[in-house]
Amino acid sequence: MAYLLGIDVGTSGTKTVLFCESGAVVASHTIEYPMYQPQNGYAEQDPIDWWNAVVQTIQMVLKQSKIDPAQIQGIGISGQMHSLVMLDKDGEVIRPAILWCDARTAKECEQITQIVGAQRLIEITANPALAGFTAGKILWVRNHEPENYAKCAHILLPKDYIRYQLTGEFATEVSDASGMQLLDVPNRCWSDEILQKLEIDKHLLGRVYESQQVTGQVTQKAAKLTGLQPGTAVVGGAADNAAAAVGTGVVKDNRGFTTIGSSGVVYTHTSKVAIDKGGRVHTFCSSVPGEWLVMGCTLSAGMSLKWFRDNFFGQEMQTADLMGVDPYYLMDQEAQTVPIGSNRLIYLPYLMGERSPILDPNARGVFFGLSAIHTKKDMLRAIMEGVTFSQRHCMEVMKEMGISFGEMLACGGGGSSPLWRQMLADVYGIPVSTLETKEGPALGVAILAGVGTGLYNNVLEACQQMIKVKDVHQPIDEHIVAYEKYYQLYTKIYPSLIEQFELLSHLS
Ligand code: XUL
Repeated sequence: MAYLLGIDVGTSGTKTVLFCESGAVVASHTIEYPMYQPQNGYAEQDPIDWWNAVVQTIQMVLKQSKIDPAQIQGIGISGQMHSLVMLDKDGEVIRPAILWCDARTAKECEQITQIVGAQRLIEITANPALAGFTAGKILWVRNHEPENYAKCAHILLPKDYIRYQLTGEFATEVSDASGMQLLDVPNRCWSDEILQKLEIDKHLLGRVYESQQVTGQVTQKAAKLTGLQPGTAVVGGAADNAAAAVGTGVVKDNRGFTTIGSSGVVYTHTSKVAIDKGGRVHTFCSSVPGEWLVMGCTLSAGMSLKWFRDNFFGQEMQTADLMGVDPYYLMDQEAQTVPIGSNRLIYLPYLMGERSPILDPNARGVFFGLSAIHTKKDMLRAIMEGVTFSQRHCMEVMKEMGISFGEMLACGGGGSSPLWRQMLADVYGIPVSTLETKEGPALGVAILAGVGTGLYNNVLEACQQMIKVKDVHQPIDEHIVAYEKYYQLYTKIYPSLIEQFELLSHLS
């Protein structure tokens, strides 16, 4: 029996899952770590925390499963996109990673647009200069911390840092590299033009692979730390969203998924490059060789709920602990008791600024319509609804681009909530299904590891064999009507606050 290992280096934690060939989970373990916010709008993590979590989660799944590590045919790595890891010439971390949801780079984005030209930037990288993307973060370090920039010998993304730790190789793959704003996305290689114009040395970047290609083998040192067999193949893997697409079988046209993880994503696969000229949604290389994806990313989806849980649901968290259930399960039960519209309360989920589709790092969260009758249950439901509206907002842009959504799958932490899935079906107005497996990104990269090491012929075939739909939530007519009024009002609130958000950003 061959096994595959999928590692997902997320923002709230790292999850490592051991799968057997059929895609069934043999063992799984997650370890959380902190995110640091040294200033309003900043978000950082320590790459060493990721590596420690990877080592410990691998040790745990090997211990739980009791398999012989030599039976692991291949390893796939997935992770949060865009976040900047800088290493010195000895491979040591220079400064904390600047994360995808960090909004400090507004000036650097202007600089990039000015140097490259707005239209040319979209032609090559398929996206406008965005605060979350890596290029702006690289320039920020060069502008603000020249001493750190001078020490920098390697620039990596989170999962690629883990690859380096596991294999000693400096490499990346097309789906994650697409989010650095340095890749020629239509041609799937580093863009010499962008690198020259931004004066970034190409040698700082890793070699670019397709997601399923083998990029290296587990070293003796990493094997000793983790318990893995030295020499085990590590494939390119994929950015979390591209990996989730493989893990949910969204690898052909007309299929989409919605994730509610820390960020919220509305994703669709496309066999031809499709780019929004306004850059309101992203086009990246997908994990299927020679094909692409279009996705909208809202920055504070599950993060909004986590923020609310941590600050207002302390008591429920204790109760959940005593009952041995997930606090989000109890929160779901509470939100269920509140009617659609949260008693006339609307939430804008812009806690960390917003990317898709409004592209505004200065935006911030809003509860609109707060009244003395509201309780924290109303606020909780308003958060779930506001996040769902923000995802519908992205979907509307994709529809304008001519993309149709025949099937929508829900995944991520939020996707496991039946309440949220029904909300998505009602707000999107289409059926929303879920899958038997909940392992989205980890399964996706395990599948890529299987393809790369010859266990399966190709990604589509592997997905067809391994992924099965479970529940389908049909939209409910009365709910569609009720939500639509709130959605329409939701879309009007942000435009009326743009100037105020800008003013707020200048207050000390
Ligand atoms: C996508 C994005 C997020 C991160 C976090 O562009 O920024 O989805 O990958 O997981």
